[in-house]
Amino acid sequence: MRIVLAQPRGFCAGVVRAVDIVERALEKYGAPVYVRHEIVHNRRVVETLEAKGARFVEALEEVPPGAVTVFSAHGVSRAVEQEAEARGLPVLDATCPLVSKVHGEGRRYIAQGRVLVLIGHAGHPEVEGTLGQIPGEVHLVATVAEVAALPIAADRPVAFVTQTTLSVDDTRGIIEALKARFTDLVGPDTRDICYATQNRQTAVRELARRVDVLLVVGAANSSNSNRLREIGSEQGVPCYMIPDAGALRPDWLRGAEVVGITAGASAPESLVEEVIAALGRLGPVEVSALPGIVEDVSFKLPSALVEPEASAA
Ligand code: F3S
Repeated sequence: MRIVLAQPRGFCAGVVRAVDIVERALEKYGAPVYVRHEIVHNRRVVETLEAKGARFVEALEEVPPGAVTVFSAHGVSRAVEQEAEARGLPVLDATCPLVSKVHGEGRRYIAQGRVLVLIGHAGHPEVEGTLGQIPGEVHLVATVAEVAALPIAADRPVAFVTQTTLSVDDTRGIIEALKARFTDLVGPDTRDICYATQNRQTAVRELARRVDVLLVVGAANSSNSNRLREIGSEQGVPCYMIPDAGALRPDWLRGAEVVGITAGASAPESLVEEVIAALGRLGPVEVSALPGIVEDVSFKLPSALVEPEASAA
């Protein structure tokens, strides 16, 4: 069996930064450090950090007074920020800077007097955070049908922003529907929303053309992993999303000569390695990676976690 890996796959710069923030906070302040919501949507990442002393909670009220608190990569609403301020909690914000950028764009459109449409999935923590970061009239849509039902007059100035991890193709259909409905519509170039989402989707589309079966390593609640699986399936390849090697079913691979593997932006490479090892136990495998974009994006850590430069003697 040949195994072909997507390039790029797995951790994005926002996830690397978020995990780094929790690890450095544990080193600097000692355990426990409280993290509101899963720092990123991956059990392995969460369990590894728990073993080092991180405590994951869903609400700030579970955080004891004065405890160091980290906001997850998905971002939080202003109400959550204000609750932390009111309680005087020392906060380290691991919100991905690209999510913060969407918050800023949304606020700017509202300040211009526009009604805002957020394209995203109800209930996802990033969407809840974004809705709660933008004051004013904001409507959430996830489908073209929901665009038709928006209670906004056709001639009002409208703007849109999107959840960072949606499929660029899905978003395109909704934006076309918005353009058709509203005469004055503005929004960012969707290709610029998140480099990692764009690159992983381009890579999985390329990979799907060359394999008999496609495996997406990612958690069921990971939005970007779900989009990778959808894109694989749209290319007509049997495509399965698995949280780890334990979920692999040998019957999926029957008759397959080439197996493609990619991983969502929150899935660590160790999970991919374990899936390769599990495939290796079924028979001899030859592993290669597609040529693809080599990413060199990194985001700065919060200043509280950056050691001051040693001064020159
Ligand atoms: Fe940020 Fe994009 Fe990753 S929004 S967390 S860099 S998937």
